[in-house]
Order: sequence, then C-alpha cells, then structure tokens
Amino acid sequence: QTIYLKDYTPFGFQVDSVHLTFHLSPKATRVVSRIEFTPQPDAKDKTFFLHGEQLKLIAAKIDGQPVSPAVTPQGLTCDAPTEPFVWEAEVEINPQGNTALEGLYMSNGMYCTQCEAEGFRKITFYPDRPDVMSTFTVRIEGDEKVLLSNGNPTGSGEGWAEWHDPWPKPAYLFALVAGDLINHPDRFTTKSGKDVELNIWVRPGDEDKCAFGMEALIKSMKWDEDVYGLEYDLDIFNIVAVDDFNMGAMENKGLNIFNSSCVLASPETSTDANFERIEAIIAHEYFHNWTGNRITCRDWFQLCLKEGLTVYRDSQFTSDMRSASVKRISDVIDLRGRQFAEDNGPLAHQVRPESFQEINNFYTATIYEKGAEVIGMLKRLVGDDAYAKAVALYFERHDGQACTIEDWLQVFEDSTGRDLSQFSKWYSQAGTPRIKVTDDYADGTYTLTLEQSTPPTPGQPDKDPRVIPVAVGLLGQNGDEVRETEVLELTEAKQSFTFEGLSAKPIPSVLREFSAPVILERETTNAERAFLLAHDSDSFNRWEAGNTLAKESRIAMVLDGAAPDADYLDALIKLVRDDSLDPAFRSLVLSPPSQSDLAQTLFERGHTPDPQAIYDAAETFAQTLAEAMTDSLPRLYADTTVQGDYSPDAASAGKRDLNTRILSLLTRLDGGDQAARQYADADNMTVQNAALASLLKAEKGAEQSQTFFDQWQGDRLVMDKWFGLQVACAAPAKAAGLAEDLTKHALFDMKNPNRFRAVMGALAMNQAGFHYAGGAGYKLLTDNLIALDALNPQTTARMCAAYQTWKRYDDTRQGLIRTQLERIAGTENLSRDTSEMVTRILNG
Ligand code: ARG
Ligand code: ZN
Repeated sequence: QTIYLKDYTPFGFQVDSVHLTFHLSPKATRVVSRIEFTPQPDAKDKTFFLHGEQLKLIAAKIDGQPVSPAVTPQGLTCDAPTEPFVWEAEVEINPQGNTALEGLYMSNGMYCTQCEAEGFRKITFYPDRPDVMSTFTVRIEGDEKVLLSNGNPTGSGEGWAEWHDPWPKPAYLFALVAGDLINHPDRFTTKSGKDVELNIWVRPGDEDKCAFGMEALIKSMKWDEDVYGLEYDLDIFNIVAVDDFNMGAMENKGLNIFNSSCVLASPETSTDANFERIEAIIAHEYFHNWTGNRITCRDWFQLCLKEGLTVYRDSQFTSDMRSASVKRISDVIDLRGRQFAEDNGPLAHQVRPESFQEINNFYTATIYEKGAEVIGMLKRLVGDDAYAKAVALYFERHDGQACTIEDWLQVFEDSTGRDLSQFSKWYSQAGTPRIKVTDDYADGTYTLTLEQSTPPTPGQPDKDPRVIPVAVGLLGQNGDEVRETEVLELTEAKQSFTFEGLSAKPIPSVLREFSAPVILERETTNAERAFLLAHDSDSFNRWEAGNTLAKESRIAMVLDGAAPDADYLDALIKLVRDDSLDPAFRSLVLSPPSQSDLAQTLFERGHTPDPQAIYDAAETFAQTLAEAMTDSLPRLYADTTVQGDYSPDAASAGKRDLNTRILSLLTRLDGGDQAARQYADADNMTVQNAALASLLKAEKGAEQSQTFFDQWQGDRLVMDKWFGLQVACAAPAKAAGLAEDLTKHALFDMKNPNRFRAVMGALAMNQAGFHYAGGAGYKLLTDNLIALDALNPQTTARMCAAYQTWKRYDDTRQGLIRTQLERIAGTENLSRDTSEMVTRILNG
C-alpha cells in the first residue's frame, strides 16, 4: 500500500498528555497508557484511529468505562466522545522476541527502544504520527538497576523510576532503557547558567570507552550555543550504548540511543576513522534537539527538514573542529559513492519524496546527504548573514511545531525577499544535474557557458532547469589567481557568464568547494588538470583535478590497455613528497578513485564496465606507482609515522592516514616485511588495523589474522572489524567463498546488524569480488537477505541496495542478478520493507 504526500490530513484529536506505565518482563511486558484527548471541532476526518501493531490488547477504557474497539493488524478504531476524554489501555508485548529491533526490544539483556519512524505503535496504541505532539510522563517498573526515559527524573525507588518530559514531542522521540548499566558522568553549564547532568550509559566493561564521546558531547553543546545560539533545555542528557541497533543512533528527547559502534571509543579498539565518526554522530544527535525535536516534521515526507539540516549542521561542526577542506573532500567522496549511485539508478527519489510504502526505506543518502547539500547551496546563494537571520527566524516562528519544507523555505523568502520557487525544485526533482561547461576568450573577455540537464528518473521523465550556484575562480598562466571565487547563479537551461579585462585566456577553476551536487562535464586536457593540481588555491578543486586525472588514467587503462599516465604519476609523486602540504590532503590525493565510481563513469560514457578489468587497472596503477617511488617510500614511511602516545586529533590522524597509504605501497615492494613489523609493534587499533589490511591484501596475513582474533575475540566491535576486513581485502576470486565461510563462523550472528553488515556489507563493497564471474557473491548475499528478512526487515531492505547498480553491467551479470532479485521477490511472507526495495530495483 502506497502513501501519498498529497493525502495529508491532520489528526482529528489533540493529545493533551500521555501517561505510560511499563511493567517490564522479557517475554510479557505490560504497558498501561492513560492519554487525554480533545476532539478538534473543525477536523475533516473525525475517526478515532490509533496505530498499533503486534500488541495484545488486554483492556481498554474511555472515561473509565470499558470499550471494545475494532482491532486490525494496523491499529484500532473506537467510538469517541465529542468532548475531551481519557483513553486508557493495557497491552502486552514481547521484547525478547522482537528481532526487528523496532519498538521495545532486548539487546544483551537490556531493554531499549527504537521508535523512529513508526516503532511506537509496537509499544502501545497511539496516533503514531509526527504531527501529534504531547508531554509524556513515564513510570518504569523493573528489577534492572538503571531505568531511563525522556525528560527529567521525577522520582525513583526500589524497582521503579518516573520521568517527565515537559517538552511536547511526537511519539517517535519516545525512549526507554532498562538494564544493569554503568555511567560515565559529567556536567555542562549552558550559556544562561543552567547546570545539566550528562551521562553515557554502557554495559559493565565498556566504561573506559566513554571519555571521548563525552568530550564530543560537551563540544557539541558549546558549539551549538556559539554558532546557532541554541541552548539545551532539560536538567539531564543521557546517552546509552546498545549493541543491537539498525542504524547509527537516535535523537530521542534527552535520551539518545546509540549503536555502540557509534559511541564507544578507545585507542586500542578504535581507528582514527571511528573517532571522527563518533564525534560527528554525537554532534548530529545532539543537534537534533533543536532541528528535529523542538521543531519536528509534519509528516515523514518532510524527513529531510530535520535530517538534511542536521547533517548540514554536523558537517559545519566537524569542519570547525577539524580541517574544513579535508571534511569537504571526504564528504564529496562519500556523496558520489552513495548518493550519486542512488540518484542515477532505480532507487532515485526526491529529497522530499511524494510517496512511499515503507518510510524506513527512505533514510537514504538522498534525504540525508543531498538534503544537506541543498542547505549548503541555499546558504551560498543568500550569504552567511542572511542564512543566520533566516535560521533565527525559523526557530522563533516554528519552535514547538511540526513543519514542512515550505515553512523552511518561507523563512528564507521572508527574511531575504528572494523568490525560492525555482530553488524548491531541488526538493521536488530527483536525479543529479549535469552541467556542460564550455569557454571562450576574445579581446580581454572570457566567457563561460554553462548548460544544465538532468536525466530522467523513475516517475520523472522531464526536468526543469534549477538554480545552481557555481563557484568559479580564474587562474593566470603563471598559476596566480586573476579572479577570486565568484558564485555564478545558473538559472536557465543554458547561460553564459563573462569576465572582462583579462590580459590572456585564464584557466577556469569551476565548481569550487563543490558548490552544488552536480556532475560537471567539461572537455579539457590532462595538462590543464595537472596545472590545477599544482596551482589551484581552492583545495577541493585541487584535489578534484588529481582525482579526475586518476580516473581518466584508469579509464584509458581499462578501455585501451594503456599504461598508467606518466605525467600524472610524476605530478602525484611530487605532491605526495611535498612536506609543505597537509598530510591529510596528500593522503586524499593518493587515495584511488572508487571502483564503483569508475564503473558508473564508464557506463555513462556508453561502455559496459567490467569489474575485473577495473580492479586490474587499480592494481597495475598502484604497483607502477610503488615501483616509481621505490627510493622514497621507506623515508616517507618513516617521516609519516606518528611517534609518542596515541591521540585521535585531526593532525595525527591525517598523518597516520598518509602513513597507511605509504605502507600499502611499500607492501607491494617488500612483501609485507614492514607491515608485519608495524603489526607486531602496534599499540593502537589504527596502525594495527592498517598493518593487517596491508598484509591481507598481499595474501600474507594468515598468522596476524589469527593473533588478531585471539587478542580481540572478546570485543564485539573489534571482531566486526576482523570479519569485515578479511572480506574487504580478499582477492576478487576469493571474496564470496571467504564471506560464506565467515557466515559459518561461531561468532557470526545475523541477528546483530553490525555483524551482518560487517560481512555482507564488505562483500557488496568489494566490487570485483561481489561481481566476480559466476555470481557466487550474488547468491550468497541473497541467501542471507532472505534468511534475515524474517528476523529484521529494516536491515535486510537497506542491504538490498547492493543491487541498485545492476543495470550497469553485462547481460550475463544482469541475468544472474535478476534471478536473485526475483528469488527475493518470490519469498513467502516477504516484509513490506524488502518487497518495496526489490520491486523498485527490478522496475526502476
Ligand atoms: N533519526 C536518526 C538519525 O538521523 C535515524 C533513525 C532512523 N531509524 C530508522 N529506523 N529508520 O540520527
Ligand atoms: Zn539524524
């Protein structure tokens, strides 16, 4: 059943207050609710319908009188008074049996919840929609030492605790946690002097992995005050780490729940990348307190209202805490890898979709990351000051409300006077715009012509031109900047922009800072790219020039059997050796273009990508580079080795990142000697993991893999690395077989999403391994998806996206994949989640 944005109707009742009592028991928890409703006199739809799924209704009353509602698998309907009334119900649920990890479930003996988007209806009967907001009072009765819910604690005793959340919220922000947990406490004083208690709650044994997360939380609270003027609004802020979780984390009011992989950190068990990600996710969830909780979404079509904005805010935070240019480049790599793949395939959808079957399938790179890009473009178009003013108006006007994208755009229109009707197409049109760039120079005038078009996407054959901010700078022949960055506003299908008074034809640096999520098409020479790689003052475009050269060289290798481009190799080596450059930047320049990205580019140019040929080109390129650097690699390795105690700061992490890339090149020459020494000496996970990865890639790591296992088998998060790394580093012919063996390992547990993703996600990411001739990878993934669907539809459906690029490939591979997709589609009792995904992938 499909749900449409155009069908939105407000609920016919206001919820004045919610009281919930939980009698916890693993297989038979009782939930008693007492909810005050006021009928809305002018409501169009006066039906008293409460969502409810997988609930055993024990009793229901209205104003104290027993009632017998009509119950379906989706919820109940009941005759309701026309005056304010009190609804009471008692239901029974089974947290222990809840493997979907949605609603109230158990993870390693602790109770926890995940209600976004529509999980609250698995806890009790309720109008489970984000535009219904109310205050919640919660009483928890259970034997666990720690009993938590949203808001402020109002009382507790032996076996019970009570909480009251004074801020009206939708049910998706409800949370409950109960377990024998230990806290890592701290405090924060807000700018207006409010003293807030902070806790990170973990299972015993994890208490030494909380300090970094706590620091990140305190930094986030301070940053949101300093940059957005937003202050925390309760007496307490709790974070809980949970081992079994479908997503990264959840912003429940005052009680954020985290996948333990996104909060627990220690130098011995976490990599630099883990530390950075944890800092960003803690910030993200905290920032939701205003962008998501105080101002929420009217309906789930508006998901990007809170997610795009909050991703945008967390990326600003990371830029401020670390290096802005490194963050921008990494974000673009990620956007191209995940969002462009989505936007240019069967799963393409609008930043604000207009229909869906299962909302959980729309927590996507398009809603999150493209949603954030749209906000970045808006800020660039109106300017920093106007952005700040508009956002301030947003909080002033909409605090306490459930809003739409129209509300968001309106504050910008009202505060700047700008007409944003064309800009709003970024929300309503799916697909990645292409911009064709041509230029001309005559008599001191330089002309840039930009032509935009967007290919068709499912359900949207034709697209209108959008407003696209294209940041451009011009360089002179000597490498100096002759025109500083200027934002061109492309609004027409085709438009020319002129620059006067130039003494010679300049070299353009187009789409600086990646000012719009588009694909640039420009015929240019490798010499010009090399020039930009050497001279561009915009670090994004400098990296981009190198990235394009790397791609073009590999494409020539794949298509024409060419050797690695000698000029590019020279330029690359010069850059990598240049000690005056930031190591993190050098590392990014050295990082190879993704094999999936190459496949997509080949496909768009009319070729059928061969994953094995792309893999071989990458190998040959790296081998040639390593050989060309034979003399300098040992010195570079030594120079980039970080001495002293481990610290996860950005500078050390950037240096280690470069060191890891040097090690992988070195391993091609020394057969793994240096990597084995690094492994033996490692005193932190970043270098231990890097050494093991290099060895596994060289098929030399059997012994280290065993010692790694022996050392870390008691640590779930490190074991996820062990499972994932082997598959990620496996040679194409071996990846599927190895992944299959790992699914038979005693520590493989498909009920744990992190472990499932470690193996199956790594397989899907190993391009040449997953698509290896014969289709063993497809069959293995499908077997596992079908088995998991019966337990956990959400995680299954997300992983189906591994097939979204299937139309790129040759007929044989398409045939093999079609067979697997049809096998999933034909599975009995397939979940709505997975069924929607597979149908879209097959038909898109
Ligand atoms: N709102 C959460 C976040 O962005 C994501 C939770 C999504 N959960 C889900 N089951 N779809 O941090
Ligand atoms: Zn979010």
